[in-house]
Order: sequence, then C-alpha cells, then structure tokens
Amino acid sequence: MLVVDAIKKHYAGVAALDGASIEVEPGESVGLVGPNGSGKSTLLNVASGFEQPDEGKVRLLGNDVTGKEPWDVAKLGLVRTFQHAHLPTKMSVMDLMLVGGQLARGETIRHSLFSWSRVRDEEAAATDKAWSILDRIKLDKLASHPGGNLSGGQQKLLSLGMALMGDPKILLLDEPTAGVNPSLRVQLAEHLRTLQAEGVTVLTVEHDMRFISDVCDRVYVLDRGRMIASCAPSELSDHPEVLEAYLGRSGSKAVASSAAKKENS
Ligand SMILES: Nc1ncnc2c1ncn2[C@@H]1O[C@H](COP(=O)(O)OP(=O)(O)OP(=O)(O)O)[C@@H](O)[C@H]1O
Ligand SMILES: [Mg+2]
Repeated sequence: MLVVDAIKKHYAGVAALDGASIEVEPGESVGLVGPNGSGKSTLLNVASGFEQPDEGKVRLLGNDVTGKEPWDVAKLGLVRTFQHAHLPTKMSVMDLMLVGGQLARGETIRHSLFSWSRVRDEEAAATDKAWSILDRIKLDKLASHPGGNLSGGQQKLLSLGMALMGDPKILLLDEPTAGVNPSLRVQLAEHLRTLQAEGVTVLTVEHDMRFISDVCDRVYVLDRGRMIASCAPSELSDHPEVLEAYLGRSGSKAVASSAAKKENS
C-alpha cells in the first residue's frame, strides 16, 4: 500500500529524517512512535506530499509519488490528518465536512461554472455522506456549530470525519488522541478498528502506547530520524534500543537490571 524508502530530510542542518523507511501492507493498522522531535510528523509530511524529501522514494499503491503534490497523492487514496487541527474557527462543522470532500475530489472553478446541474447533484450526495459520517462520529447534533467552538477532542474527531469525506484507501493520523478525553479516546479507537475492518489501511503516529496497543497490528519506532525497531506493540519493551531512545542509556540500563532482578527473585 505505502512504501517510504530511505528518506532523508534536513532542515537547516537538522536531520529530521536520516534514511528512514517503512512499509505498510493493504488492510494493516500500523503505529509510528518515537520521542519528541524524532521525525514522525516529517515522515507523514513526506509520505503525503506536504514536504519534499532530500533523498529517498515514496510509493503508493505501486505508483512513485515522490515529490508529487498533496492533492495528487490524495486523489490516489492517501488522506491525512494534522497534529494541530487549525480548523477555520467560524465555518460550521457541516461546511468543514463539505470542504474536506471537495478538496479530495479536486474541485475546479470551471467545473462549478459549466456543469452546475452535476455540481448540484454532487453537492446533495456530499451532504448526505457528510450527515452519515457525522452521525457515525456522533457530531451530527453539532453540524451547524462553528468548528472553532468544539472541544479539542471533538475537533480531532471532526478532522477524522473530514478525512473520511475523501474515501481514503490509506489514512495517516498524526497524534489523533492528543488533548482527547478518555471516553473520546475509546470512541476513536473503536472508529479506527471499524475502519480497518472495512478495509481502510491506517498509519497512526501516537505517544499514547495504550492506544497504539489497542489499534495497531505492528509498530515502527523512530529515533533521531532513524527507524530503530519494527515489532508488535507488545514487544516494544523488549527492545533495548527503544528503551534507550525513550529513557536514555542510564534509564534503559535501570529498566534492564530491575527486569533481571525480578527474573532472579
Ligand atoms: N519546518 C521545519 N523547519 C525546521 N525544522 C523542522 C521543521 N519541521 C521539523 N523540524 C525539525 O525536525 C525534527 C523532527 O520534527 P518532527 O516534527 O517531525 O518530530 P516529531 O517526531 O513529529 O515530534 P513530536 O512528537 O514533538 O510531534 C525536529 O528537530 C524539528 O524541530
Ligand atoms: Mg509530530
């Protein structure tokens, strides 16, 4: 479904990505974790066309999409959400949903001016689809509210809803649970599992390891721009490099020696 191959990306001398690679199979739910600043968002940006890599390749469904614009990548079925939603505060929830659908379809002024009856039918279909997604994510009662008035957690759900308007084959989510209360977090996990059951491939960047364990089959770990592990979520704590990335060398030694003590006792 998605291959990110040996990507290098520098910002003014900082190596955000230093040869990082991932592969995501169709129908998988894959996690991407790593300490702050390890390059997770940069990897999503490169995979979705929002940033150009300095080196390396991105392939989506067998197509080379390296350096392609985000809207071209979206047309092939890759839709992503952002770590910080930044929704236009005054637009209503319904309008934001409809914009999500239009962006994914590649709306043009020419199309709007000269094919207005088709546009009218498409708008009716888009509105029906938006209602059914809002119903699914339980935001239907807030459809006429300004997006900016929603709580942080509801804005995260709305971002997911807007992404679903684009009928993604693969969904890239950047920290979907940040600022989300525990009950919405459970709802989000359920939505992701349902989407996976419906055949949508999911790549989730997260700091919340419980969420990763709940929704992911496999997890990649980034540290300072390099991929240091790929394993089942339950195996993360067995990786010395992962412990070291999160805790530093002394912390990982302390964890290892307390584990050894436990085993001996
Ligand atoms: N547009 C940019 N300009 C300059 N430096 C950047 C830019 N984007 C990212 N970086 C740097 O690249 C590195 C990786 O950043 P990135 O945002 O990808 O990390 P992250 O793993 O998503 O972190 P977090 O968990 O805090 O969201 C950091 O050192 C960051 O400061
Ligand atoms: Mg990030």
